[in-house]
Amino acid sequence: MGKTSGIVVVYPGSFDPVTFGHLDIVRRAAAQFTSVTVAVVANPSKSPMFSLAERVEMLREACAGLRNVEIDSFEGLLVDYVRRFERALIIKGLRIVSDFEHEFSMALLNRKLKGGAETIFMPASAEFAYVSSSSVKEVFALGGDVAEFVPKSVLRHMLARRRKGKR
Ligand code: PNS
Repeated sequence: MGKTSGIVVVYPGSFDPVTFGHLDIVRRAAAQFTSVTVAVVANPSKSPMFSLAERVEMLREACAGLRNVEIDSFEGLLVDYVRRFERALIIKGLRIVSDFEHEFSMALLNRKLKGGAETIFMPASAEFAYVSSSSVKEVFALGGDVAEFVPKSVLRHMLARRRKGKR
């Protein structure tokens, strides 16, 4: 790995489940920044397909080869979690223009909240710009092939879930 920036970043999300789009951001962030902590939100607003432990496990498997990447989880406000680091930026991936509106308002809010944190955005690579956890879940639920969008370990978890008769 080349020289990194001395900057620590936190990459938060639901990761329900992690996709190649997320992993593209993790890898590119890991190449630029000193460390990347992928922070899985314990209670996403939507009811998740996978438990927190499963989402963390799938991320750990997918990021196993990345030396400066850690997987963690948090409950409550993101800014409170980020404050545990001496100095850290929030990093978010942007896929399409419609992401921007939501992410921009979250970034402003996270800066405004007590103990506020700054956010930086990384554009998705073109080949992943249309991949999202929710579309992966929908395609899978309707019998489509999602092998191109998620790591093998995630696919295994999804197939195991289907065998158990859930989703
Ligand atoms: O992958 P997602 O679902 O788009 O991630 C959303 C996430 C986890 C980044 C966001 O919901 C979040 O930061 N949740 C923690 C609670 C919080 O701090 N809310 C106020 C900022 S919107």
